Amino acid sequence: MTAPAATDRTSSARPFSYPRPGSSLHCGAVSLETLAKKYGTPLYVYSADQIIERLQMFQAAFAQREHLVCYAVKANSSLAILKLLAEHGAGFDIVSGGELERVLAAAPQATCRVVFSGVGKTAAEIDLALNAEILSFNVESEAELDLLADRARKLRKKARFSIRVNPDVFAETHPYISTGLHEHKFGVSMKTALAMYKCVAQNRWLEPHGISVHIGSQIASADPFGAALDRVHTLVRQLERAGIAINAIDAGGGLGIDYHARAFDPEKRVQAYAKAVNTALHGFQGKLLIEPGRFLVAQAGALLTRVVNVKRNGKKTFVVTDAAMNDLIRPALYQAYHEIVPVKPRAGKPRAVDVVGPVCETGDFFARDRALGPIQPGDLIALLDAGAYGMAQSSNYNTRPRPAEVLVEKSKARLIRRRETIADLLATEII
Ligand code: LLP
Repeated sequence: MTAPAATDRTSSARPFSYPRPGSSLHCGAVSLETLAKKYGTPLYVYSADQIIERLQMFQAAFAQREHLVCYAVKANSSLAILKLLAEHGAGFDIVSGGELERVLAAAPQATCRVVFSGVGKTAAEIDLALNAEILSFNVESEAELDLLADRARKLRKKARFSIRVNPDVFAETHPYISTGLHEHKFGVSMKTALAMYKCVAQNRWLEPHGISVHIGSQIASADPFGAALDRVHTLVRQLERAGIAINAIDAGGGLGIDYHARAFDPEKRVQAYAKAVNTALHGFQGKLLIEPGRFLVAQAGALLTRVVNVKRNGKKTFVVTDAAMNDLIRPALYQAYHEIVPVKPRAGKPRAVDVVGPVCETGDFFARDRALGPIQPGDLIALLDAGAYGMAQSSNYNTRPRPAEVLVEKSKARLIRRRETIADLLATEII
C-alpha cells in the first residue's frame, strides 16, 4: 500500500474518508480524532446514514414484490442500531431469546416483523416468542416442530412456522460460516420438509407460513442464492400439489461485501442478488423475506484504536494496539482481512508490519506482514469494515472491558454504548 494519497485509501463503499488532502480520517463529517479524544479507545464508530442506505438498497431492489428485510440481529445487536433499522421498516431475524429481548427493548412495534432462526430453541425461548406474537419460527428439525406445537397448544397461541430446508448447495466461503450442505447441522432435507408440512397440516396450533433457507455468510456471487431458491421453489410446487399453501419464502442472509480496498459497488451487488432471487422464484406471488446482516452494517463500522507501542523482534516489526482479539475476533477466528488505515497519515515509505493486540496469544493479531505507512506510538489507526460481527462477537478475555460505541448521524455523533468498566465485569461474580 502506498502512503497518504489519502482519499483513495478507502473505497466509496465506506463512510470513512479523508475529506481534504492532509486532513484526518472522518466518518461522514465527524473527525475520528475528536471522537477518540472524547470517548477514548478502542472505540467502535458506525455511520447511521450508511446503514440506512444499505437497507434501502434491498428495499428498492425488491420494490416490485411484497417483501420484508429482516435484519440478522447477530451481526450487530446494539439497541440504537436495531431502533434505527426498525424506524426504516426493517424486521428482524433473531436466534435467541436474548436477541428477542433486544428487539422488545429497542423496537417493540417491530416484533410482528420478527423471524426466529436457530437449531436449538428452548421451550422458554419459544414461549417468549409466542407471547411476543412474532411473525414466524424458522423450524430446523422435527423435534423442534413437535416442541413448537406443544408450547403453542399450552399457551393457546397459534404458531406460524417456516421449515428451514438444507438445499445441499455449496457456497464458496469460509468453512466455519457455510451452512447449506447436508454435512452441516442446519435445516432438514427437502424430503423431510415435505413430510413435516404434511404431518402437521391438521394441527390447529400450527400454521404453515413459509419455507426458509440460509446457505452461509460472506457469499460474493449471486449464483448459489439462485441455486438454493430454485430448490425451494420446487418444494413450493410439491406442497401446492399436496394442498398446502405457502405464503412466504425466506431466502436467508449471506450476501458478502468486499473487505479489500478493491472497487466495490454495493448497489450492483444487491441488484445482481435480487435478479438471481427473482429469477429462481419463477413468479412466486407470496412474500419474500431476506435476512441480511453483514451487508447492512459491516462497512458502516470501524474499530478505532490507539497504537500503544511499536516493537521490533529480529526482522519483524509489531505495531501493538490498545484493541485486541477480544474486541474484534474475525482475523483470529476466520483469518479475515480488515483494511487498516491511519487516522492521520504520516509521510514516508510503507513497510511490512504485524498489527497485534496486547492479549497473551499469538493468535491475537489484526494483520500480518501488512504494508503500512510510518506508524508511531500514540497514533490512531482504524480497522475498517468492522461493523458486523465485531462488537457482537467481543468478549472480556484477559479481563478487558469491551469498547464503547458511537453512532454518527449526518454531522452528529452520539454515544450508543458506554465503555465497560472493571466494576461491570466483576459485578456478577461471587467470592
Ligand atoms: N440468517 C441466518 C439464519 C444466519 O445464520 C445468518 C448468519 C444470517 C441470516 C446473516 O448472515 P449475513 O447476511 O450476515 O452473512 N461471524 C461470522 C459470520 C457468521 C454468520 C452466521 N449466520 C463472520 O464474522 O464472518
